[in-house]
Amino acid sequence: MELVLYLRGADLKSVPAASSWTMKLITSPSEIQNHCRLALAEGKTIGLVPTMGFLHEGHLSLMRPARAENDLLVVSIFVNPTQFGPGEDYEAYPRDLQRDSEMAAGVGVDVIFSPTAKDMYPNGYGTFVNVERITEKMCGAFRPGHFRGVTTIVAKLFNLVRPHRAYFGQKDAQQTVVIRRMAEDLNFGTEIVVLPTIREDDGIAMSSRNKYLNQEERRAALVLVRSLRMAEKLVKSGQTDAAEIKRNMRDMIEAEPLARVDYIAIVNTDTLTDLDTIKGRTLIAIAIFIGKTRLIDNVIPDRQ
Ligand code: PAJ
Repeated sequence: MELVLYLRGADLKSVPAASSWTMKLITSPSEIQNHCRLALAEGKTIGLVPTMGFLHEGHLSLMRPARAENDLLVVSIFVNPTQFGPGEDYEAYPRDLQRDSEMAAGVGVDVIFSPTAKDMYPNGYGTFVNVERITEKMCGAFRPGHFRGVTTIVAKLFNLVRPHRAYFGQKDAQQTVVIRRMAEDLNFGTEIVVLPTIREDDGIAMSSRNKYLNQEERRAALVLVRSLRMAEKLVKSGQTDAAEIKRNMRDMIEAEPLARVDYIAIVNTDTLTDLDTIKGRTLIAIAIFIGKTRLIDNVIPDRQ
């Protein structure tokens, strides 16, 4: 039961792990690059699950299939400063590498890559990756620069790890569309795998940020799921008028005193273009505030 931590090459440490799996912790960008180059030279396939840590079942649900589908599984744990706006929760974002390492070892991760912000963005850093248009609406309108930070860090991780497959959650629907666009536009040759949202028993999507909610806010947050379920029902029963669905959702959310709508979007799943009439695969995505905490969620209803 041992976890081998490779810290800056020579400095080896061991910590107890939840399983007998031996997992490496690499903090240096050049080391992860070398490690993955060697694996590629040996003909191994590489899977990458990028995360900001404080792992939960949603993250693990990406790691399990990634474990099964690749020879080498790398999980990155990095709270990426460039995707947080001024006044957002970069400093407060929960961090617990010890606990994360144990959880990752438990699902058979080979390598955790957890660099420092200084190593990823050293003095003089000046290159950013920006996907145009689809990053300007929905979460991008509320968080200017957010997706530029996400695509920059994911592009850097892709260059370091050169994964055959990278795994992302449908929970962050716009992020998956933006990353697919980037991977295709920049010819990364990495397959982007998107997997379903994992929810708590009461339906709330798992999120590291749920930790910010007090008991009363946690109860109020349920309105997010209720409004999406109602929208799904409306679509299934034949409603195709997007404005009508949005109106119903807004009315339901506004009846919850602790909740405030940021946006309700009904868009094409692949292009994120707004739809007046529901046709084809449709994404219904929503962002609300519960107190100071901003929560997002979405559904892609099946149509009968
Ligand atoms: P983070 O919020 O840690 O999420 C890491 C991955 O886990 C993302 O692909 C996210 O969509 C997925 N995920 C989170 N909650 C989930 C849930 N309840 N069900 C299924 N998947 C879930 O998203 C990020 O980090 C960052 O933006 C990152 C891509 C790592 C770039 O910094």
